[in-house]
Amino acid sequence: MDVLLTGSAGFIGSHIAAALTAAGHRVRGLDPRPDGLGGEPADVRDAGAVARRLEGVDAVCHQAAVVGLGVDVSDLPRYTAVNVQGTAVLLAEMARAGVGALVLASSMVVYGEGAYTCVRHGGVRPGPRPEGALRAGRFDPECPECGEPLRPGVVGEEAVADPRNVYADTKLAQEHLAASWARMTGGSVAALRYHNVYGPRMPRDTPYAGVAALFRSRLLAGRAPLVFEDGAQRRDFVHVRDVAHANVLALERVTAPSSGPAGPGRPVGPGGSRAYNIASGEPRSIGEMAAALAAAFGGPDPRVTGGYRLGDVRHIVARPDRARRELGFSASVAFTDGMAEFARRPVTSS
Ligand SMILES: NC(=O)c1ccc[n+]([C@@H]2O[C@H](COP(=O)([O-])OP(=O)(O)OC[C@H]3O[C@@H](n4cnc5c(N)ncnc54)[C@H](O)[C@@H]3O)[C@@H](O)[C@H]2O)c1
Ligand SMILES: [Zn+2]
Repeated sequence: MDVLLTGSAGFIGSHIAAALTAAGHRVRGLDPRPDGLGGEPADVRDAGAVARRLEGVDAVCHQAAVVGLGVDVSDLPRYTAVNVQGTAVLLAEMARAGVGALVLASSMVVYGEGAYTCVRHGGVRPGPRPEGALRAGRFDPECPECGEPLRPGVVGEEAVADPRNVYADTKLAQEHLAASWARMTGGSVAALRYHNVYGPRMPRDTPYAGVAALFRSRLLAGRAPLVFEDGAQRRDFVHVRDVAHANVLALERVTAPSSGPAGPGRPVGPGGSRAYNIASGEPRSIGEMAAALAAAFGGPDPRVTGGYRLGDVRHIVARPDRARRELGFSASVAFTDGMAEFARRPVTSS
């Protein structure tokens, strides 16, 4: 098939381009940065540039975004312009061009905190952790009903969305716009909620860089990785080649002619939008991840600082079953192999 890949010069986009090509598909890119795919630099908000690239395309893989936490209120216009307005322009042009299949890069950030249970109150959704608790080293969220420490669980796609920052707001807005577009046009959408993506070409040393890249930079400089809180906060680290593979499977799914309208038993199909956790299914703590990278470098050992950032969530661990069942996706890069490879490989500085 012919695929328009937005954000094609990015960390994940570049791996998707390679995976699509390897699977025998044809890719054209759209990115303000040169992406090695031969197209002119272009902005997803530029309707004319989007329209020209949509000619003859079977599906769109939408990775373009401003990424990171959206730490400052002054970031609001930039995040919404690219992520929300850019997606709106893309969807309108897809409708005009008659392109009805979309794979959208979404994120685990739409969940806010992960899933928790209280021994007395069952499943609960804790709010943001108060600064006083963090300062006192009480990192685990407490039950909003009784204040007892909660037990972390796994979060499934049916969880109520609870975005906690501007970036998360825009990722959820992208999902909502794509779902409305599907209903209005009969298009098919798979929204892939990536968990913590890591691997070659991961950006480093930016305020928004993923934690694995920050630890790696410290180790390259011969310094100990600095681990916030007590290091026990858990995440699901998924390798970028697995994420790229999930995109190929999802693109093949949203373009499958036999899929029929979305509905019971047919989760992806015309008129429907479906979310998928894209995760390894093997949660690790941040402390374990720092230790694995430090071991691959031969030290120094990580230092647990007890520091914290307001707005960080404590644990966010995915249930990966839906993507396995409906897309045939399961991660294949083992954590220790992926981290050892990541430690050795060069990363870009942009
Ligand atoms: N890295 C992760 O762990 C992670 C986790 C969840 C979701 N995501 C999502 O995955 C997607 C790719 O992220 P990434 O980690 O590869 O980030 P990245 O910054 O490496 O890639 C994003 C790409 O989008 C491009 N872009 C920015 N503004 C654009 C515009 N106006 N028009 C066209 N292109 C534009 C950038 O130039 C860049 O090449 C994003 O949608 C992001 O929200 C990433
Ligand atoms: Zn309780």
